Amino acid sequence: MNNKVYIFDTTLRDGEQAPGASLNELEKLEIAFQLEKLGVDIIEAGFPISSKGDFSAVKLVATSLKRAKVCGLARAIKKDIDAAASALRTAASARIHVFLATSKIHMKYKLKKAEEEILRLAVQAVKYAKRKCSDVEFSPEDASRTDKSFLYKIVEAVIDAGATTVNIPDTVGYIEPEEFGLLIHDIFNNVFNINKAVISVHCHNDLGLAVSNSLSAVKNGARQVECTINGIGERAGNASMEEIVMAINTRQDIFKNLKTNIDTKSITKVSRIVSKLTGFPVAPNKAIVGANAFRHESGIHQDGVLKERSTYEIIRPEDVGFKEEGLVLGKHSGRHAFKERLKALSIKLSEKDLERAFTMFKQLADKKKTVYDDDLIAIVDEQIRRIQNRWQLVSFKITSGTGLLPQSEVRLRYKNKETTKVSSGDGPVDACCKAIDKITGKKSKLLEYKLGAVTSGKDALGEVNVRVKINKDIIMGRGTSTDIIEASIKAYLNAINKSFRA
Ligand code: KIV
Ligand code: ZN
Repeated sequence: MNNKVYIFDTTLRDGEQAPGASLNELEKLEIAFQLEKLGVDIIEAGFPISSKGDFSAVKLVATSLKRAKVCGLARAIKKDIDAAASALRTAASARIHVFLATSKIHMKYKLKKAEEEILRLAVQAVKYAKRKCSDVEFSPEDASRTDKSFLYKIVEAVIDAGATTVNIPDTVGYIEPEEFGLLIHDIFNNVFNINKAVISVHCHNDLGLAVSNSLSAVKNGARQVECTINGIGERAGNASMEEIVMAINTRQDIFKNLKTNIDTKSITKVSRIVSKLTGFPVAPNKAIVGANAFRHESGIHQDGVLKERSTYEIIRPEDVGFKEEGLVLGKHSGRHAFKERLKALSIKLSEKDLERAFTMFKQLADKKKTVYDDDLIAIVDEQIRRIQNRWQLVSFKITSGTGLLPQSEVRLRYKNKETTKVSSGDGPVDACCKAIDKITGKKSKLLEYKLGAVTSGKDALGEVNVRVKINKDIIMGRGTSTDIIEASIKAYLNAINKSFRA
């Protein structure tokens, strides 16, 4: 049996379905570049029929990548498949991913169709997709709750129809690892043409079992895993790529000679970039990529690690690219050093954007003694967002103090027109948000506000993450600055700017 496990990343599709995680085209492209560099085999870039924005993002990613296969999702409907094929037309290597639910519960209540009809539609859709693209994946949605004999039948039929990958999704994160391993084992034993396709798995994390389920499937013959960076995704998320890859690498005694193409040394960097661009912070105790994943607090552990690292470390931090603060630049660093650092972080910017980012770096270096990798990622993140921002902050003033009603004056630019409004509020941030609402005309409610520091030290960049309800949408925003009120304004504005695209 083939010993390569294909990594199918769906950060840009299922990951982006996480509530609040909306990415603009340039942010998606940046993530796609990072995933390609990381060694991902297949990148699911979106669901082209779902919106104009998704269509053009898939098209942009398809046009820009050279090595990774770019995939577009489609329901088992002609117009979806046409949209996916059209968005992928310029890809160096493309895949159409067709899905149709097969569990009794989905067929009865959602699709209102009987088994025979579902089987017919699946085969028809795969055949149609195959006319447009030689690489077709089929997913029987909610496979883990599908009647087994029907599942074997549909898997066999879609392979006969030309599917080159068949994906077995645990759509609602219901199955348990042993049970899932057995399901994959049974599929191999009951589908006679199974060797003509790659068997893939796609696990959700509703019971916290997505990674364990994926690994159990791999042990039983699955050779593609669908996953996301940091495990982001619908509801409780998808299986986390970094955990799957590092489990396979670390436990070679169990995953005998199985390999992925992932350059593990880039994992931490990509995790941070995805976190910044999606606005989803990584929990400090998150396996592999959390800030505490390699920190030893207890004296006994520290002593053990100093004597022999393997006493308490099963992964060497450098194997996933974990560095406490990353390399350092300062106010005397020039363009060349700046460019080299971005290159090392695999961040590509046009000459014009590079100049702007360099100016921002110099401004930051004037305020802050040392500029770390995470500061640079924050600068580039701001730069990418700034390009597509409708409203931009020009200036603000704030008066606040003991016994004073906080007052703000905020000036924003939209195209070439600048508008200033004043407002009072419960606190300085509230006063600024109210002034912004007056200018943009948006009715928004700040649901969550989190303040942190990008790196350490008194002069660290402040980073604000917000969740804002704008009309019916819940949107995440992020802002960074050495001034925390400015970071708050930027985060709130970022959410408002995203709402024009939501
Ligand atoms: O969770 C799921 O079933 C999906 C399919 C589209 C593969 O995301
Ligand atoms: Zn999913």
